[in-house]
Amino acid sequence: MTNNTQAFDNWIRTRFVTLNSALESQYWQQQDKANIEGIGKSEKNALEQEGKALIKTLLKEGNTDEGFDNAFDLLGNVGLYMAACRRHEITEPSRERSSPLIEASALAMHIGASIGVTPRFATAHLTTHNKSINGIYKRFTDLACEKLFVDYNTKSILAYKRASDALLKIQPLGISHPITFDLLNVAKTALQDVINSNKTLFNKLDTEEFFYQVRPYYKPYRVGSQVYRGANAGDFAGINVIDMSLGLCFANDPDYSQMLVDKFLYMMPEDQRILRECMCKTSLMDDFLAQSQHHQASWYQENLKLFLKVCDRHGQTAIQHHDQLVNKYISNPAITMEQQHMDKVTASGPPLTVLLNTLENLRDKRAAFNRTDIRTCYADIQRLKATLNTV
Ligand code: HEM
Repeated sequence: MTNNTQAFDNWIRTRFVTLNSALESQYWQQQDKANIEGIGKSEKNALEQEGKALIKTLLKEGNTDEGFDNAFDLLGNVGLYMAACRRHEITEPSRERSSPLIEASALAMHIGASIGVTPRFATAHLTTHNKSINGIYKRFTDLACEKLFVDYNTKSILAYKRASDALLKIQPLGISHPITFDLLNVAKTALQDVINSNKTLFNKLDTEEFFYQVRPYYKPYRVGSQVYRGANAGDFAGINVIDMSLGLCFANDPDYSQMLVDKFLYMMPEDQRILRECMCKTSLMDDFLAQSQHHQASWYQENLKLFLKVCDRHGQTAIQHHDQLVNKYISNPAITMEQQHMDKVTASGPPLTVLLNTLENLRDKRAAFNRTDIRTCYADIQRLKATLNTV
């Protein structure tokens, strides 16, 4: 890490957090907590100017070929700065045609294009790739609600990754291999970890605090002339690897592949590679269907039973995400929000009803619900269940 990169990193971990936290406390004290206008002018000015000065020196230094990890980390710091400017409406994409943060945009585009990711901060910057120093990892604020949110996002993402790693290892072994049973068990346990972690998040995270003080940092913002959608906890390959390797979702389903295409650059390059490979493989569901002539074999009965449990557990995580997390923290508050603040609700930009519909379809695919209007695996699961011996 160069001295300039280090100085910027120090600023992001200290003064940046102080300024954001001071602003949050001023917004929170208002009758209309969503109002940003005319509040904390000196803090907003300090945030913009101090960040800009540090970024200017980095831009002059150029991409100093410090390796992927350092470049990705620096992109995250620039991204946190740009997201905070967006949160405090120092920038506002509908007001501008190009980001007024010229130096930050240039640096973000330079790094993003050179390492093959989107030129904004992504979920990985705050969760799986966020170095803790003396117990504290990078965050926007010092608020407990933000820490809770990031902690539990990280826990769930890592648990999904454990499940996907196990499922990927089945591919070269095949569904009749004895160790496939062990790998399915690892996936099942990991998905239960997702459920447990999301449950704690659901019980502990306060709706208003999340809505007014955390979510706004995940809004879309401009880098150069283009608006990039907000980061969300789904921007990693694991969840889609689970979807497709189980066979609950399909790379050739137009809605699903649209989502994959849109999210590729929001993932780490390593995740992009894993996802690309997985899109070309057959699913465990198809493998079981193709080998149902062996339904009397003990490996078939044991592994299929466990496979169906893994599918069920994955469906449970999706139901939980939609019916609990999205409902409690996005849909319900949106109903009580004034229309003027509706644009603050989602991270990705499309109208809330469109977004909710997309998420609902994803839930139903993962849970293999019986839907006639979209492609789900309901019928395949029924066919497989019919080959199980009843005890
Ligand atoms: C307070 C908690 C959470 C809320 C309110 C929430 C809400 C949302 C929303 C609204 C989206 C759509 C993207 C957008 O905002 O524009 C989304 C996407 C997504 N979220 Fe969450 N989320 C939460 C936590 C989590 C956690 C802990 C995970 C676990 C990794 C997760 C996994 C995903 C995934 C995978 C997607 C992409 C769409 C999909 O494949 O289902 N979310 N979330």
